[in-house]
Amino acid sequence: MGIAAASGLLEGLDEIADIGRDPQRGGYSRHLWQPADMQLREWFTARAHAIGLDVETDRNGNLWAWWGSPGPDAVVIGSHLDSVPGGGAFDGPLGVESALAVVRRLKASGFTPHRPVAVISFAEEEGSRFGVACLGSQLMTGAVSPAQVRALRDDDGVSFADAARRVGFDADRIGRDDEALSRIGVFIELHVEQGRGLIELGSPTAIASRILAHGRWTLTFRGQGNHAGATLMSDRDDPMIAAARAVLEVRQAALEMPGSRATVGRLVAVPGGSNVIASSVAMTLDARADSDEQTRALVASIAERVGASEFVENSWSPQVTFDESLARLLTRAIGEVPVLPSGAGHDAGILSAVVPTAMVFVRNPAGISHAPEEHAELDDCLAGVDALESVVRSLVA
Ligand code: HGY
Ligand code: MN
Ligand code: MN
Repeated sequence: MGIAAASGLLEGLDEIADIGRDPQRGGYSRHLWQPADMQLREWFTARAHAIGLDVETDRNGNLWAWWGSPGPDAVVIGSHLDSVPGGGAFDGPLGVESALAVVRRLKASGFTPHRPVAVISFAEEEGSRFGVACLGSQLMTGAVSPAQVRALRDDDGVSFADAARRVGFDADRIGRDDEALSRIGVFIELHVEQGRGLIELGSPTAIASRILAHGRWTLTFRGQGNHAGATLMSDRDDPMIAAARAVLEVRQAALEMPGSRATVGRLVAVPGGSNVIASSVAMTLDARADSDEQTRALVASIAERVGASEFVENSWSPQVTFDESLARLLTRAIGEVPVLPSGAGHDAGILSAVVPTAMVFVRNPAGISHAPEEHAELDDCLAGVDALESVVRSLVA
């Protein structure tokens, strides 16, 4: 990533390049309140202070860096700093660093905004530790219940409340934050593209039109644990067989619904010994489609096909269509760039239920995301900063 430093604009990406590296998976594993997240919070705070912004953490763990007194009618830009397990370097951080770069460049030019500007870094956008997508923005908008969130547990069985306590965060205050929402006039999120649209269209940037509906479920298959050597094949009740069939059924159900996507990202056998027939197998399901109804129908079809003992919904994000007048403003500010749908969810999607939001995508020549190969060329990143700066100028001049 060293090339970012050459730009003198996005060197923050170099500064965090070694935070949260995952030697087993490759890429980065940066999850809520774990050491890498805490280091990134410190980095964000120092970087924002260095350009004269005031930083505060809201009741839901989201970080705000203010240019001018907080709200109302602020132009808020930013994204998130957390990652999926083994994620790429750009999903999230490119949006945060680009937002800080825009403020730095505007301030250096002597520009004075006529309304407040804030850079935000949302907490736990990936939902990688506690399983709920866009947790920080969903809490802020009241889309998830604080009590349910406090009870969420990570893979080690640590509750959200206990994890918060360990880092000195007051989990009793989480919940809809009307004061924070009242400050937001518009929210614009710059994000690395997670797909191949811009490669095929030959443009460095695009504007988002909408986000697929998407949700996350845990399916559990139960059987009888037993000895791998002492149990005849005819005497087995092995849940791994049902889980294996379910993985294929998930794929088939999505293939039969054009445009939908369904993914099994994890299978966890209990007890998980190599010489043990499992007593249960937990399987994650990520399902997405153009509309809420289609996604629900896809999941219902999967549920019918697989016959899981338990089928629990962990996270739900409705289909999003971005504010058209704001999208037109972006087109006027940036110029005629492609307008693309997003298969990936974003905090901008969650906030769009409450305030006008828009997204700027930056080309990813790998076309791959949620993997170490995720990439964005410096020139395209700089084009993204230029685009975001044009938008902010048009909103605050
Ligand atoms: O899963 C998603 O769509 C996003 O990257 N959190
Ligand atoms: Mn992501
Ligand atoms: Mn993201």
